[in-house]
Amino acid sequence: MSAAQRSKPSLAADPSISAPRFTQFIAGLEHLLAQRPAEPRILEEGGRLLAQLVAQDDWLPAHLAVSRADAYRQVPLHRDAAGRFAVVAFVWGAGQGTPIHDHTVWGLIGMLRGAEYSQGYRFTGPDHLVPDGSPLRLEAGQVAAVSPSIGDVHRVRNAHDDSDSISIHVYGADIGIVPRSRYAEDGSRHAFVSGYSSTIASSP
Ligand SMILES: [Fe+2]
Repeated sequence: MSAAQRSKPSLAADPSISAPRFTQFIAGLEHLLAQRPAEPRILEEGGRLLAQLVAQDDWLPAHLAVSRADAYRQVPLHRDAAGRFAVVAFVWGAGQGTPIHDHTVWGLIGMLRGAEYSQGYRFTGPDHLVPDGSPLRLEAGQVAAVSPSIGDVHRVRNAHDDSDSISIHVYGADIGIVPRSRYAEDGSRHAFVSGYSSTIASSP
């Protein structure tokens, strides 16, 4: 990467996110990734940064934390100008969850509010997925990781059937434009690109 690329301003997705806790988190990630560390160090040190971010639930603007009745929201909080990482708030309405999916890049998940379950899956054949252990319950303040090297296929859902939950995700790419896969229960693969939700809660 050239010096010119490194000096590009970051693409904050929403200018309302000005809390020092969040801007310090982004600065910490940028400093870490500028050293081009190997993935284990990204997950360890990035995980510590994310744990500091979600240790307090007082920085996410309220309009970004509103759930939708029909589907969970993937609200972009920050997209790195060089495409090295993206930070996304997953806003789960009561009982909402994802299909089985992969990421293709490293990811960190920090629970900000409420709780969620992540059920990992593993392949036993080219088109055969089975649950890999028991669901992991993530409580507010806790951090988990995914990646092709440590387990990349899972299904996530709000642990609460009667209230919202919010987790903060960091990925090693501009995840909304990454070609990825969803999987049906029978293991069949379906290509998808997640995109991002509107930062305006009332829009589709
Ligand atoms: Fe995921």
